[in-house]
Amino acid sequence: MSFGLAEKGLKKREEFRHFAENELDTGDQFPRDNLQKAAERGYLGYPIPEQWGGQGEDFLSYILLIEEISRICSSTGVITAVHTSVGTFPILYFGTDEQKKRYLPGLAQGKMLGAFALTEAGAGSDAAALTTTAVAVDGGYRLNGCKVFITSGGQADLYTVFATMDSKKGVKGITAFLVEKDSPGLIAGKPEKKMGLNRSNTTELRLEDLFVPMSSRLGQEGDGFAIAMSLLDGGRIGIAAQGLGLAGASIDYTIRYMKEQEEGGKTTEQGVSFALADLAARFEAARLLVYRAAAVKDAGERCSKEASMAKMFATDLAVDAATRCIDLCGLNASRQDNPLTRYFCDAKATQIYEGSNQIQRIVISRQLLK
Ligand code: CAA
Repeated sequence: MSFGLAEKGLKKREEFRHFAENELDTGDQFPRDNLQKAAERGYLGYPIPEQWGGQGEDFLSYILLIEEISRICSSTGVITAVHTSVGTFPILYFGTDEQKKRYLPGLAQGKMLGAFALTEAGAGSDAAALTTTAVAVDGGYRLNGCKVFITSGGQADLYTVFATMDSKKGVKGITAFLVEKDSPGLIAGKPEKKMGLNRSNTTELRLEDLFVPMSSRLGQEGDGFAIAMSLLDGGRIGIAAQGLGLAGASIDYTIRYMKEQEEGGKTTEQGVSFALADLAARFEAARLLVYRAAAVKDAGERCSKEASMAKMFATDLAVDAATRCIDLCGLNASRQDNPLTRYFCDAKATQIYEGSNQIQRIVISRQLLK
């Protein structure tokens, strides 16, 4: 019996686990093959309606997919999550019919990769402080500025870019634009050398006198900040699922290791068994938070509080689980080629991106005090 997931969810998890374990690789290059295999199964447009080339599945099923992919290759997990929830949903939720026709089928079928360009050097946690400008010109807008830490920068085909049209208006001055990769004036920097998630390209993105036609504005002028925040609600549940995948991978690895030790005649210390029990209980609690957040989103309700709780709890657990499991498995686990080392390095970023876990606490407490 599995409290929380109906039979459909359990079957989906089995399908995704089989896919991830048998089809995904864990090399060190951009995971093009993994993404191609995911696209062939419709996984790059899983919660996108069939009308637009997707699979028309619910958000909870998509979350199970991200969890299982991330258990094997969390770089592929974050690329898929960003592509879907902040790369494709912007057009599904806020696009005009023309924008939907132009972009959704390609994105949902994985022929195009989507990305989200909000963060700047001086506007990470304080997203409203962004300084990229958009000036209205004949037939459209001219964008100037520089975005940083853009997931799939240089690899993506379409970016949702946020710029201010009037900094005096604060959040109400921000507008969203769809920018295609070959637009003159769009320049992606070199991939960042990160501590983890090394297969996912993270780059700077410069916008130099970049012209965006009127038809590529997303939503109304001034709607950009609310668009970004509402997309991040869904995006954060995806990152929470990535945290679940990583935490589960660390715990599973350690259980296998302990069993091998026991088969070799060593007994598991009480301290070790207590630590494993704690992690397993926190893992089940994290799953409930993540699946609940997805269910709230599926119900069409605002899920800011639930998403932030899930993201904070599951990604903190991902780091704690990797850290504790390295302790439990000893020196062997600290080798660079040991999977636990990769889980630890990959998990660290999940606490930081799509809003650091301190930002999640701000979102949660503001919702509580509203
Ligand atoms: N849904 C809809 N509208 C929302 C919203 C939501 N969840 N949250 C805010 N808004 C709108 C509302 O209109 C709100 O006005 P009202 O309060 O009058 O309703 C308006 O936005 C302003 O909201 P706030 O007052 O809460 O704005 P703030 O400036 O205080 O910022 C913040 C709040 C939570 C700190 C926000 O800046 C934030 O989330 N920061 C973190 C940014 C972030 O997550 N960046 C991630 C980058 S993408 C990434 O990392 C992806 C990747 O590559 C992996």
